[in-house]
Amino acid sequence: MRMDRNPQAEQMADASMIRNLAAQANAIWPQESRLFERYALAPNARILDVGCGSGEITSRLATSYPEARLVGVDILDGPLAYARERYAELADRLTFERGDAFELAFEESSFDLVVCRHVTQSVPHAEKLLEELARVCKQGGWLHVLSEDYGMLHFQERAIDPEKLWRDGVRAYSRATSTDERIGRKTWSFLKALGVVELSVDYAVVDTQRVSRETFAEIIRAWRDGYTGALDLHAGLEKGEVRALFDASIESILDPDAYAVWHVPIVSGRKGVRGAQFAVPPQDERSADATRPPGSP
Ligand SMILES: C[S@@+](CC[C@H](N)C(=O)[O-])C[C@H]1O[C@@H](n2cnc3c(N)ncnc32)[C@H](O)[C@@H]1O
Repeated sequence: MRMDRNPQAEQMADASMIRNLAAQANAIWPQESRLFERYALAPNARILDVGCGSGEITSRLATSYPEARLVGVDILDGPLAYARERYAELADRLTFERGDAFELAFEESSFDLVVCRHVTQSVPHAEKLLEELARVCKQGGWLHVLSEDYGMLHFQERAIDPEKLWRDGVRAYSRATSTDERIGRKTWSFLKALGVVELSVDYAVVDTQRVSRETFAEIIRAWRDGYTGALDLHAGLEKGEVRALFDASIESILDPDAYAVWHVPIVSGRKGVRGAQFAVPPQDERSADATRPPGSP
C-alpha cells in the first residue's frame, strides 16, 4: 500500500480505532441519520461507503435501507475482515471490498449515494479523493461527506489548556503527514469546484449536552491510545505533554460542571444532472486565484 494513500495506516489498523469508530457512531449517527431523508433514495438504491473502516455506518445504512445494495470499501484488510464477520447476516446485499479511495474499481456513475466519513482528514490531497467520489456517483445522485476539522473542538481550560493539543499539536502532525487538519471547513468549496449542486453543510454536535460524557470521553481516549506515539514524534510538544493534554481533554469532558464540544461538518450535495463539470480547476488556475487580492479582476 502506498503510504501517501493512507499515511495513518498504523493508527487506522490499531484496535483503538475499532473502539473509536463505535463511540463516534454512537455519538454522531443519532443526529446524522435524519440527513439521509433529504436524498429521497429509491428503495433499491446502490450505496457506496468509501473508507468504511469497521462498517459501523455501512451496516446502519443497510438497516435503514432494507432493499438497497451496499458496498463498503477500505484500503486496510483488518477493518474489512472485522466488518465482514460482524455483519455476515447482511452479506447478501452488503459487501466489503478492498480498494483505494483515489482509484475506485467502479464504473463512472455507478451509485445513487456515495458516503465518505472521517476519511478526508487522514489523506493528502483530499480534493482528489472527492473528485473520485463524484466520478462514481450517478448524475443526480448524492454525495455525503463527513469531514473532520480539528479547529472545531473546544474544551474549557484545566491546569493545562487542552486546546494546545488540538490547535498546535495536531496541526504540526498534519503537516508532517501531508494531511489537512482543517479540511472540514474546505470541503464545501472543493465540492462546489467539482460542480456538485444543492450543497449543504450540516453539523453533528458532539457535546456534553447531546452526547453522554462517557461516549464523548471514549472518543478522545481511543484517539489518545492510538495516536500518542505518532504525536509524540511529530507534534513538536514536550515529552509526556501529548498524553497530558489528551488526559486534560478527557477530564474536561467528564467534569460534570464543565462543557466541551466537537462540531463535525457533514457536507452533502448532488452530482449535477446536466452541464456539471467534475474536473477541479487546473493547479495553476487555483493557485493564481489564491494569490489574487480580494476584489481584483
Ligand atoms: C477513521 S476511519 C472511518 C471509518 C468509517 N468511515 C466510519 O465512519 O466509521 C477511516 C478509514 O479510512 C480508510 N482509508 C484511509 N485512506 C484510504 C484510502 N486511500 N482508500 C480507502 N480507504 C482509506 C482507513 O483505512 C480507515 O479505515
